[in-house]
Amino acid sequence: MNHFLDIHLTDPADLRAMIDNARAMKTARNGRGQAAPDDHQPLDGRMVALIFEKPSTRTRVSFDVGVRQMGGQTMVLSGSEMQLGHGETIADTARVLSRYVDMIMIRTYEESVLQELAEYADVPVINGLTNRTHPCQIMADVLTYEEHRGPIAGKKVVWVGDGNNVCASSLHAAGQFGFDFTFTGPPPLDPEREWLDFARGKGSTVEVVRNPHEAVAGADLVVTDTWVSMHDSQSTRGRRHNQLRPYQVDERLMAAAKPDALFMHCLPAHREDEVTSAVMDGPHSVIWDEAENRLHAQKAIMRWCLGV
Ligand code: CP
Ligand code: NVA
Repeated sequence: MNHFLDIHLTDPADLRAMIDNARAMKTARNGRGQAAPDDHQPLDGRMVALIFEKPSTRTRVSFDVGVRQMGGQTMVLSGSEMQLGHGETIADTARVLSRYVDMIMIRTYEESVLQELAEYADVPVINGLTNRTHPCQIMADVLTYEEHRGPIAGKKVVWVGDGNNVCASSLHAAGQFGFDFTFTGPPPLDPEREWLDFARGKGSTVEVVRNPHEAVAGADLVVTDTWVSMHDSQSTRGRRHNQLRPYQVDERLMAAAKPDALFMHCLPAHREDEVTSAVMDGPHSVIWDEAENRLHAQKAIMRWCLGV
């Protein structure tokens, strides 16, 4: 059994196998209804707990559908309605859930909750987003890039805006999949130094460029995310908007990237804040494929976790 806690903690060969498996499973479903079961049912008889301590649309629905397509069943649990939200320890929760279910996906605040759950669970634990990382999202992003443009290795990915949890997982992927990474945003919102160093240590070219137009020159992929994440205090909203306004992804910024550059956003987006509708709905954008690919990528992640 394997936990899927973060991209930098997972063997690059395993990550590659997951992307290839996701693509194969997506191709095999080609032209079939969204809810149709897969011919192969690797999760037959398995129960998966999906725990959410924060809101979600994509993660919740894509994990639920993915498990069902593979023949398994799910239960969606809200953290606040569990004893976990009322004083029961994470370790005890992990021990108990392991007696009922075959796998646990959790979206939570502190990374330590995910880590403790994994330490005490006897079943695989999957990171469905913490304040610090969002690995399932970036696996879907890699799948999406490769579907459209071929191997991501050696390509230039530019992250625009807040150096947040999704940005962190993208830096991990830069190191593990071998692409180059440029961050452009205001200094207070830089990605963690540890993650910049991780990607550099793996041989990726990693740059921090303050001017967004200079940063996206030669970009194969431009990525952004919300200016205020779920764990950010709403009291920082005004300051963040002021700091990040010069980093809005608009058509002029996309025109400074390579002509065939792709645009991605993990969603939910705040149209006309971090990205204009013209870009979201424009020719560079692959955001709906990216959202769909959460499903396919996570199915491969779950199979890897269970070894099925
Ligand atoms: N991108 C993503 O994780 O979306 P949700 O918050 O809707 O799950
Ligand atoms: N950075 C965002 C991602 C949402 C999927 C957040 O953490 O709120």
